[in-house]
Amino acid sequence: MRNPQLNANGELSHLLSIEGLPREVIIHILDTASSFLKVSTRDVKKVPLLRGKSVFNIFFENSTRTRTTFEIAAKRLSADVINLDVTRSSTAKGETLLDTVDNLVAMHADMFVVRHAASGAPHLIADHLQRIGRNDVHVVNAGDGRHSHPTQGLLDMYTIRHYKKSFGELTVAIVGDILHSRVARSDINALTILGAAEVRAIAPETLLPTEIRKLGVRVFHDMAAGLRDCDVVIMLRLQNERMNGALLPSAREYFRCYGLTPEKLALAKPDAIVMHPGPMNRGVEIHTEVADGPQAVILPQVTFGIAVRMAVMGILAGN
Ligand code: CP
Repeated sequence: MRNPQLNANGELSHLLSIEGLPREVIIHILDTASSFLKVSTRDVKKVPLLRGKSVFNIFFENSTRTRTTFEIAAKRLSADVINLDVTRSSTAKGETLLDTVDNLVAMHADMFVVRHAASGAPHLIADHLQRIGRNDVHVVNAGDGRHSHPTQGLLDMYTIRHYKKSFGELTVAIVGDILHSRVARSDINALTILGAAEVRAIAPETLLPTEIRKLGVRVFHDMAAGLRDCDVVIMLRLQNERMNGALLPSAREYFRCYGLTPEKLALAKPDAIVMHPGPMNRGVEIHTEVADGPQAVILPQVTFGIAVRMAVMGILAGN
């Protein structure tokens, strides 16, 4: 079956999910990001790779990190960036997503960066562009429903590689609301493709998807057992906005069982790193001493995210 993310030459045409990406494409993105990391430290933080291109940020869900770092990344590549204000756009008057896309294509869009509450919305746009013969317009998924958040997955892999150098020996624990997490899915897919030794999912049964064991991860309900000897701990937020009904007794009970405290972190390897995609809820999934502690690499994740998003956009549209 045709991979909708790759063109006929096997090159990346859209970034819709980590699933289905060849390992060499992921490595190429991470290596390209390494070269872009230096751009952000120069006096003139710009390269001309996307000069003359128009990047449309279309965010139907709230975002701080993803939206801002995509905008910074596009500007550092010299693109023109248009942030569609969805609440004031004509989608609020009933215009369909694809009609909106058609109108933006008529304004000579070269790339859409899309966040949507509906899983599959970026795929829908990519399929539509193919149907109307606009293979020159690229789509980047900036998070769709519970499905995928591929640039978060890639920046997480960049962060792990930066601190741990390679994946083959690593035990990585993903902790918390895996059921509702597009980040967890993207991270599990990426870690599997990159050959991590062991990926663990630590969560109560109510916050695990039924298919989790088919993804090749080791499931733990007991956090102490799951954290033992880990190299990387990825904490997740409780995504209350995607929960239908109560899946937990209380936030206090959740923190007692699954919150990352300094005592629990001491069970992982002494040089383990702590990651979080943000936004963090201190005192719910992570103790503030851990969030601000020496093992946390949560803010470097954000910085690396700019370079990774520059790499993705540069590879898609930079010739
Ligand atoms: N990690 C992440 O997607 O954060 P935002 O929702 O702030 O973009």
